[in-house]
Formats: sequence, structure tokens, C-alpha cells
Amino acid sequence: MSEPYLRMRNISKSFPGVKALDDVQLDVYRGEVHTLLGENGAGKSTLVKILSGAYQPDEGTIVIDGKPVGFSSTRDAENAGISIIYQELILIPQMTVAENIFLGREPKTKLGLVDYKKMRADAAEEMQQLEADIDPDIPVQQLRIGQQQLVEIAKALSLHAKIFIMDEPTSALSDTEVEKLFRVIRHLQKSDVAIIYITHKIEEIFSIAQKVTVLRDGKYVGTQSVQETDSGTLINMMVGRDLGELFPKESIPVGEELLRVEGLNVRHPTLADRNILSDIHFSLQRGEILGISGLMGAGRTELMMTLFGAPPGQVISGKIYLHGKESRISTPVQAIRNRIALVTEDRKLYGLFLQLSVQMNISIVSLKQAVKMWFLRRRLEANMVHKYIDQLRIKIPSLAAAVETLSGGNQQKVILAKWMLTQPEILLLDDPTRGIDVGSKAEIYQLMNQFASEGMGIILVSSELPEILAMSDRILVLSQGRITGEFSREQATEQKIMAAATLGEAAG
Ligand SMILES: Nc1ncnc2c1ncn2[C@@H]1O[C@H](COP(=O)(O)OP(=O)(O)OP(=O)(O)O)[C@@H](O)[C@H]1O
Ligand SMILES: [Mg+2]
Repeated sequence: MSEPYLRMRNISKSFPGVKALDDVQLDVYRGEVHTLLGENGAGKSTLVKILSGAYQPDEGTIVIDGKPVGFSSTRDAENAGISIIYQELILIPQMTVAENIFLGREPKTKLGLVDYKKMRADAAEEMQQLEADIDPDIPVQQLRIGQQQLVEIAKALSLHAKIFIMDEPTSALSDTEVEKLFRVIRHLQKSDVAIIYITHKIEEIFSIAQKVTVLRDGKYVGTQSVQETDSGTLINMMVGRDLGELFPKESIPVGEELLRVEGLNVRHPTLADRNILSDIHFSLQRGEILGISGLMGAGRTELMMTLFGAPPGQVISGKIYLHGKESRISTPVQAIRNRIALVTEDRKLYGLFLQLSVQMNISIVSLKQAVKMWFLRRRLEANMVHKYIDQLRIKIPSLAAAVETLSGGNQQKVILAKWMLTQPEILLLDDPTRGIDVGSKAEIYQLMNQFASEGMGIILVSSELPEILAMSDRILVLSQGRITGEFSREQATEQKIMAAATLGEAAG
């Protein structure tokens, strides 16, 4: 067999309190899609950040095309033909799509000024490659997360790299967007690009990759050819223990009504003649897990934000009843006071204060209670924080560590712990398992069961149909801001949900 294009050997890297990588190796050939697999905090992102020049290794060698290399900056690595899509989006919200794509390498006119016309045209071309209908002139903050992810991908593509690294690129993409990305990846493969692809979605490995390397606790476990392995083997290599059942749904008798929504209409933030939510009616019982399904952009996140007192547009009409009493929830503070919690897909919004410690982030919304009965609560709180850190398997060097130093999946777990600690009555989960490894997913489902059995009502939004089907007692389907289907657990099938999810689409 020929020499690998990229050869990483004996790579080690420590951070204060953690050995993130311990003697890791990776070989990647041209025209190959090579997946990195491992639990949250296993060291995947750290390994690719060393390759992209963002971190320097403590030990180890990198050889590209037979030549030893070392990168002291990301610019260095870029010049050597390496391009990376980071797990955490790093776009600048106020800048346009085109400005973000060409940031720091804007095309210039003869006079040395930024050639906006060319920049816009080039950006449009990159977006077209991804078959994405996104206006290059729009500020990035106006795009939903999935679209921002596409801009990030377009930015990386525009570098025309020889080694292309993607760190969980599909975590916020819809199924059709994933298909488009896969077409682009196959195209890159044909032009002999080496691709490193990180994902927690094991089925993706089998549709796009040829090789998979597994890491566990910063150590190299092994490399397998995708053709000669199966998901059971990979999960075993990854977690080093038996997983048990992924979806442990328990049947819990539903109790009294916690929440009822009637005739909710929310206007589009910019288009005056359009609604993002129309005529929404539903209720939620104690002990119930209500699933909400629908395509990207169907209004799922908008509904959750509205219930949390942060509607993305003007509420024109609608009543919300809590325990049968009409209530006003017009700010997140009111929502929290009414014991409503929201776990969002956007970690930076209502999610985390990245520079603050894990301890602070987890207890911040519960602090008010802590002030009330200081001594008792402090002890209790510390116990609860520890309980969730254990149960969710959150990997942290210490409670004082800044959240921004945690791995992506562990940050998501901190958000979950934070809201669980408030002991809400109504828990709104918007894609809660995004970026979370399979082992921890099962733990989260266990916790959902436990909370439901204690009388909590849970609304679960998820783009993963198996998750919705397995965990929900009842499923609502949204399409273009309207409820287009409602199914009991027994009735629901993937086909029925998809049919309802595309109902409004066809009608326009
Ligand atoms: N800048 C940093 N400072 C301190 N610790 C860090 C830093 N970056 C990563 N770590 C630690 O290194 C370990 C590996 O993290 P890494 O981000 O590589 O995990 P990962 O495999 O990408 O996980 P995930 O699937 O959750 O994204 C974690 O324990 C993390 O807390
Ligand atoms: Mg990562």
C-alpha cells in the first residue's frame, strides 16, 4: 500500500488538569474519508486542532506528503493546504455571509480596496456548490444555526485545501442539507482530497467514510476499515463497556394538565404579512413527554422560545394556561419564575457563559433559591451539582474550570445539568442530545424518564426521528408554523410523521 498523505505519530497534549491526548496516531490517505470516533471529551477536537495549527502538541510528529511539518498558527496550516470547520461556529454575527467567508483574505481591486462585487459573486458561487439558498449580503446573525453551519462549510471549501477537516459538521443540518454536504464530500474525494470527519452519528460513518479511528480518554484504541466493521464493534471500542438499551422509555401515567396553549399566532420578525407560528393549540400533562417533530424551519425552535418568554417575533394572539390559569410569560425571567426551563440548541443563547466556571454555569439560575436558605441550599446544591456531573458523565478537570475549555458535548451536558438543577415543572428540550455521544444519550433519556415519573412535563424537539418516536408519549408535527399532525405513541410511524411534516410544504 502507498504511503499515507498524512501521518500523525505519538501525539500527546495536556491541559491544566487533563491529558487530552496520550500517544495518539492517525494515518489518512488521499481520497479517503477518515472518521474520528469517541465519547465526549475523548480528544477528537484536540487532535484536529493540533493539525490545524490552533494548538501545539507537547510531543509527537506530523508528516504530510513525506515531509515533517509543524504549524505555529492556523494561518501556517492553511498555507500548507489544511482547512478546518470547527465544532463551535466561529462566524462573526454582525458581518455578512460574504464577509465571513473571505475574512482576512478579501479579494482586492486594482486600487487595493476590497472588491465587494467579486467577494459577493465568489461567496454566491461557494453557496451554490452546497446548493444552499443563502443571500451573501445577509448578516450571519439572521441565519438559523443550520444555515450558519453551511456558511462555515462554504468558508472552509473556499480555501481549496488538500486536507479537509470537519468537526461535527452535520450537527445542525437537516437531512437534505446533509445529503448535499455528502455530495460535496464525494466530489472532494474524487479530486484526491484527504478528509477527516468527526461525528457522533454512527450511521453517517457507514454512508460516507472508508476508515474510522477510535479514541478513548485521550488514547488511541484502533483503526478499522468501515467495510470490515459494524456499529456494535465501534461502540464497544469507543465506550469500553456494554451500553444496554439506547432508548429506555418507561410508561408513566399522565397526570393533571400543566400547560395549555390556545390560538397562538406569532408574526415573522421582518416580514409583516407572514407568521412564524399560526393557530397553535396543544396541552401538556404531568408525566408526559410530548415530542415535536418537523423539518428545519418548521417553527419548532420558535415555539419553544415563545413558551420560554422569548418569542422571535411579535405575539399577535394566543393564550397560555399554567395549571389551568391564564398566565403571561413575556420574558425568560417570568418563564423561570413559573418553573419553565429551556435547553436550547444554541449554546451561546440562554445557554452558557463561556468564560465562567462550570460551577457558576450550573448553579446560576438556581442562585436565587440559594440565597433564601444559604447554608442548607449551598450544601444541597453542591450535592446536586455533583450528582448531575456523575449521572451525565460530564468530563471536567474541576468545578472551577471555565466552560469554554470543555469539549463540545460536555458543554451541552452542562446546560442540561444547569436547567435540571432548577427542578422545573415544564422542561423544554430543543435538540438536547445534539453533539452528545451515544453512551451519554442513553443517560439523558434515563433522566427524562425519572423526571417524568416525578411529575414533570417535558416537551422534546428533535431532528432525530428515532429519538422522537422512542421517547414521546404523544407527537405533534409542525410544518410552516402550523400543527399538521398529532399522533399517539402507538399510532406514530416515521412515514406518518414525514407525511405530516411535508404537508404545508407542497401547498406552499
Ligand atoms: N483549551 C482547553 N483548555 C483546557 N482543557 C481543554 C481545552 N481543550 C480541550 N480540553 C480538554 O481536553 C479533553 C478533550 O477535549 P476534546 O474537545 O478534544 O474532546 P472531543 O473528543 O472533541 O469531545 P466532544 O465529542 O464532546 O466534542 C477534554 O477533557 C477537554 O476538557
Ligand atoms: Mg469535539
